This record gives sequence, C-alpha cells and structure tokens, in this order.
Amino acid sequence: MFILPVARSSFGVTVMSRVLVIGDIHEPVSHPKYLQFCQDLYEAWDCNTVVFIGDLLDMHAISFHAAHPDCPGPSDEYELAYADVQKWCEAFPTAWLTIGNHDARPMRLAESVNIPAKYMRNYAEVWDTPRWKWVQDVTIDGVYYYHGTGCTGKTPALNAATARMTSTVIGHCHSKSGVGWGAGPTARIFGMDVGCGIDGAAMNFAYGKHLLKKPILSAGVVLDGVPYHEIMPCGPKEKYSKAARISIKGVPIWAE
Ligand SMILES: [Fe+2]
Repeated sequence: MFILPVARSSFGVTVMSRVLVIGDIHEPVSHPKYLQFCQDLYEAWDCNTVVFIGDLLDMHAISFHAAHPDCPGPSDEYELAYADVQKWCEAFPTAWLTIGNHDARPMRLAESVNIPAKYMRNYAEVWDTPRWKWVQDVTIDGVYYYHGTGCTGKTPALNAATARMTSTVIGHCHSKSGVGWGAGPTARIFGMDVGCGIDGAAMNFAYGKHLLKKPILSAGVVLDGVPYHEIMPCGPKEKYSKAARISIKGVPIWAE
C-alpha cells in the first residue's frame, strides 16, 4: 500500500493534492471523447495529480471467458490498446494507476497454470509508461484509491469506505457513479464511484446489450481530500457526444 506524505511548501504551509481520477477506460474501447473530457477537467480544476482507477485495458482476448468472434485477437488487441495507452501517457505523463481486474488478466491466467509473477514482464514495461506507478492502491491526503474489484451494491464506494472506515474512491462498477457520504459521532467519510469512460457500443460490451443499467461516463476530482464528481455530457448534441456532424442533402444533422 502506498501512502503519500502530505507535501509542505518551503514556507511550512501544507500543500494538498488536486487529484483527477480517471474511470475505467478498457482500451482499446474507450469513448472517443473521454480523453478530451479528462484533459479539460485537469485544466478546469487546476489538478496536479492523476489517478487512473484501473481497467485501463480491456484484455478481451485474454480471459477465462469466451471472446466475442467480432473482436480482435490477442496480438491485434495489444497493438490497438498500446496506441491508445500512448495517447493517455502523452496527455498525463505522470500518474498513479491502481491495477484493475481486467489489467491483471494475463497475470491471473499465468497463475492458473502455475507460472509465478517473476516470469512475467511488469506493466510499465509492457505498456511503455515509464513515469506511471502501477500499484494495487494508493492513499493521498487520507483518501484511499483502489480499483474496487468485488465491490457491489447500490453504493459500492460508500460500502467500501464504511467497511474500511476511510474515505474511498473506486471504479469497477461501470453503472455506478457519484458521491455518497456517511457520518458518525466523530468522523465523516465519503465514497466516490468514479464511473467509467468506455464506449458502450463496442462489441467487447455486447454482453450488456440487454441490461437496463448502462455505463455512466464520468470522472472525479478530489481537492484537498474533498470529492467532486463530474458527469461527461455525451448525449446527442452535447459537448462530448461521439456523434459526427454529417450532411444529407446539404442539411447538417447529428447522429449517434
Ligand atoms: Fe471495468
């Protein structure tokens, strides 16, 4: 577990982090406008720290489950995901990444056939992210960040925060998004479900086609240990819609 010390300026004033938290993006199938959305948030909130909350990668072709026949195979998926990861790395050269269950799929498959981790290449090397710290969890300004594997319920992050008795930020549950608070006689804590940044129309997510609860595209900001949740306006004609302007008989229209 990484616990960052509270930074202090040369004048002895406490300098707290301004953290942008990026949801599950499952490359190579992130929403095409999610990167821009995150860059805009970083600027708007004057952030100085970035946490990817995990499931950076989908690893659809490397799984215990059957792969969809219309999805790329393992080598092609790697090439596609690598190119996308490099875009994220260019946008956010320094970051924490709390490893998600999808990121860990190669490790888990290796373990299932008795291959120790020491035989595997580390994440930073595989994905060429020299200044990203790939960790299981990190604590910044007293707030605990981890992917949230196994978390469930109506308020997964608040459930985790309550169990840990520590304010907690998670991803993992794509259809959960927002901040919940709990308070007792001596303490107040929050749980923030960051949401995700996936392209729900990708074949990788065909399993969810008939589910009524859909992914919620959003991200989080934590300033001085206080959470702010940001929904991505990505509906038809909204700022981050993936719709392209097209023209039929000279009349421009928006289309999903
Ligand atoms: Fe995920």
